[in-house]
Amino acid sequence: MVGMSRRRALISGGALGALGALVAASPAQARSLIGWTWSPSGSVAGSGAGADPNWVWDEQADRLLASLFERGVIPQVNELLWDWERNDQPLPDGLPPDLRDFMEQARQMPSWADPDKLELAAEFNKSRGIYLNLCNGPGGGILATAIPKEAQSVYYSAGGADMEDRVAKTSAFGFAVGSLNAYRPDGSCVVECVKTRLVHAAVRHLLPQSPHWQAATDEEIPISQEDMLVTWHTLPTFAMRTMREWEVPITDDEAEAYLHLWQVTAHVLGIADEYIPASWESAHAQSDQVMARNTGPTPEGVKLTDVLLGQLAEQTSPASISRPLCNALARYLVGEQVAEWDGIPREPVWDELIPEVWPLLVKFREGLIPLPAVPEAAWAVDEAVRQYILFYLTKGRQTKIEIPVHNRPE
Ligand code: HEM
Repeated sequence: MVGMSRRRALISGGALGALGALVAASPAQARSLIGWTWSPSGSVAGSGAGADPNWVWDEQADRLLASLFERGVIPQVNELLWDWERNDQPLPDGLPPDLRDFMEQARQMPSWADPDKLELAAEFNKSRGIYLNLCNGPGGGILATAIPKEAQSVYYSAGGADMEDRVAKTSAFGFAVGSLNAYRPDGSCVVECVKTRLVHAAVRHLLPQSPHWQAATDEEIPISQEDMLVTWHTLPTFAMRTMREWEVPITDDEAEAYLHLWQVTAHVLGIADEYIPASWESAHAQSDQVMARNTGPTPEGVKLTDVLLGQLAEQTSPASISRPLCNALARYLVGEQVAEWDGIPREPVWDELIPEVWPLLVKFREGLIPLPAVPEAAWAVDEAVRQYILFYLTKGRQTKIEIPVHNRPE
């Protein structure tokens, strides 16, 4: 680490200060600055400074969380926020005033949010729930383990030691986004996003203090705006691409509404408007740019994948087929390259079968082919998917997102 750490630079001088410190510190890292060509003209803001998001974090939230840690008030804050659950619910009394001010501002919907599109997106989430849950749950989860920076952050943070709880918490978020009332007053999407924004700022404060994380990475602050975009693309962009591949019928209005839901979600999570893609075309261009430079194998990613697949297999029965089936389903969802990086074992029977039967199940579900056209073996896959989704929704309802106070205990 050079003289002034990036975190200190971030807190004292803002993102530009941190950028300067980095350029001076590492020409190799500085070179990657040249790599960012995606233009803010393709964003929901329509314009912006165009800074490489790899060197931008969440300045306001990060300063706030650092200060809350210094004051030792996070456990109290967690207690106070425990029952803050609905989008329209006033913030609890007793929060530190600076946190209250931040949250009042952070919970505002962006001026460009379109209630009609959000309603259509909610309907789309309902009618396409099975595909979306599959893509955003196991699909997005296993893709994330092939993003080295995310795998390392997750592994060495508190949640890395208890993946069941972490998956449940992430499910609470997924459940909120996918609900019919996501952004309605009685929904919980704003709440989960604002809590998650606080969690991420806490992680930016905590992880740099982990010797294990430091040893594993050459980063000094995790969860940059670019990292957020990468994960975002593993959710809506991946789901839309995958559903198109499966030939799920989707109207243009539905596709636009689904994108809009995730644009609003990105905003409330703390992604700056100048990085949020305004259209699918722009999203795909950004995804092609950021995914290529942010994916690959890590030992942490392999371990996390194994834990995730083990959990997935526990939800399905009978046990004799569950793990091989889950391995093959995961390989089918994320593709050969990611499956290899993540060390997903090959399954001679299911690896052949799933690519054959899943498209038939989709066609049957969409009323495009009659029942006899679906082979018997397909129903084991269908049942596994349904059991998993049930588990995912149930678990998500039983837990709440909280600000971590330590890293992975080792
Ligand atoms: C926590 C969602 C991006 C690392 C969380 C939580 C949610 C979430 C819902 C709370 C659950 C929990 O505490 O376990 C998202 C979404 C993202 C995103 C929707 C982008 C659209 C990222 C990125 C990284 C990251 C890019 C790292 C590079 C973490 C870590 C935690 C966390 C380390 C805390 C785990 C813990 O210690 O408990 N995220 N995340 N997230 N996220 Fe993210």
